[in-house]
Amino acid sequence: MDFQLKTLTVAQAAAEKSDVLIVLVGSAPLTSKDPLSVLAASARKAGDLPDKAGKLLGLYRPEDVVASRVVLAAIGDGKPASVRSGVVAAVNSAKAQAPKRVTVVFAQPAEGAAVASAVTAAADASYVYTATKSKAEPRSIRHLTVGVADAAAVTGAFDAARATVAGIELAKEWGNRPANHATPTLLAEAAKGLAKLPNIKCEVLGPKEVEKLGMGSFAAVAQGSAEPLRFIVLRYHGAPKDQAPVVLVGKGITFDTGGVSLKPAAEMDEMKFDMCGAASVLGTFRALGDIQPAINVVGLIPSCENMNDGRAVKPGDVVTSMSGQTIEVLNTDAEGRLILCDALTYAKRFEPAAVIDIATLTGACVVALGGVRSGLFSTNEALAAALEAAGETSQDRCWRLPLDDDYAEGLKSNFADVANIAGRAGGAITAAKFLQRFAGDFAWAHLDIAGTAWKSGAAKGSTGRPVGLLVSYLTSRAASGDARTGKAKKTKTPGAPAKKARATK
Ligand code: BES
Ligand code: MN
Ligand code: ZN
Repeated sequence: MDFQLKTLTVAQAAAEKSDVLIVLVGSAPLTSKDPLSVLAASARKAGDLPDKAGKLLGLYRPEDVVASRVVLAAIGDGKPASVRSGVVAAVNSAKAQAPKRVTVVFAQPAEGAAVASAVTAAADASYVYTATKSKAEPRSIRHLTVGVADAAAVTGAFDAARATVAGIELAKEWGNRPANHATPTLLAEAAKGLAKLPNIKCEVLGPKEVEKLGMGSFAAVAQGSAEPLRFIVLRYHGAPKDQAPVVLVGKGITFDTGGVSLKPAAEMDEMKFDMCGAASVLGTFRALGDIQPAINVVGLIPSCENMNDGRAVKPGDVVTSMSGQTIEVLNTDAEGRLILCDALTYAKRFEPAAVIDIATLTGACVVALGGVRSGLFSTNEALAAALEAAGETSQDRCWRLPLDDDYAEGLKSNFADVANIAGRAGGAITAAKFLQRFAGDFAWAHLDIAGTAWKSGAAKGSTGRPVGLLVSYLTSRAASGDARTGKAKKTKTPGAPAKKARATK
């Protein structure tokens, strides 16, 4: 689907060649005298278009409009979240007619964030999965025109949103593919494909190299599978070489059976989504390739299956991680942390400005936060604040959870330096405490996306989260002076003006 931004009044949008015209109507009074604005104002007055984001009024062949269908969509206060509700409702209602060309016009002036929200919402509502269907009906919308009062004022936000959509859709695509169509090898091929984009490089390590590096914990998870593991290293260079990078680490379990600590059968299919952290790293690189922000980013993806087999790691086995710490594997289903810990140790070699891991890590996080906010853990105040802010801006929200040392009590082992599980209580936090042991030397944050990476039930499918959050974080970091320092500043407020001029590549 291609996106276009235009300066359009409602009257001009009515003259656009499209199958459906969506008019976004905010709470502010409609002063334009064109027929559609007058109609919207009278519908509002009559109570037929309530001033509540997501409320719709459909029109068929109204006079002087090229599109045969018009949807008036209320967007209330016009804030990004309200625009999202309006656009999602309108696109969903228009989908039945399989429109090819859609025009979305703001009836009142709109800010960049609202325009960006319209773009991501329209893409989200119209995404269709096709990869493994024999007679797939692809997404009907080919062209989406967004009309605003002043296109020049929102071009930057619009372009970034378009790039973010490409990233979100790549993440959705890989998240949705079944495990036999998304093996570690195939994920690595997808990563290599990203190296075609400017300033992106990719390197893929296999079992031999991983063993040589001493990643005994990662290798232990992979040893029960017939599929060879892959360790993917992506690099994006948008800033001078000596600038410390942000490292993203994505959990890439392409299928999680639980291993010997086998999961129950119900909904086990959803464990194909256990590589959504990895998919979010791929998606973020896809967006970076388009946006080309002035920042350096490294993406690390440990990827393997967690299978049950004669060779599989067993409860009680002790493995040696790359850091040298030994780990007692009390539960083979707590495998995410076992692959992430070695990737975190590997991250040190980049002398990172910050390391963020992204993982569908714990069922406990789903219980705690549901599907609305991802869990955020960090030992670094500035990094935590910046990620929270990025979540708000992108409407890909997270919620910070604590990391008190008391939570690590249960990780004690009689036979190794640490156990891979603690008791049931506070499971998302004890998992984060385990990871923290491997992230001592740098500014670190952990995003538990177990509840937010995919939807279950009738709408089962990957959400592409938290690509929006990550892209927003990285681009605002590039735009502020922060990225220049090579270190995460302790007192920096997100969004504060840049201290130094932007460096050129
Ligand atoms: N991939 C799962 C986490 C998960 C479970 C995500 C359900 C989304 C829905 C992870 O590998 C796992 O199995 N975690 C265990 C940890 C436990 C054994 C300490 C869990 O959460 O049950
Ligand atoms: Mn598991
Ligand atoms: Zn898992």
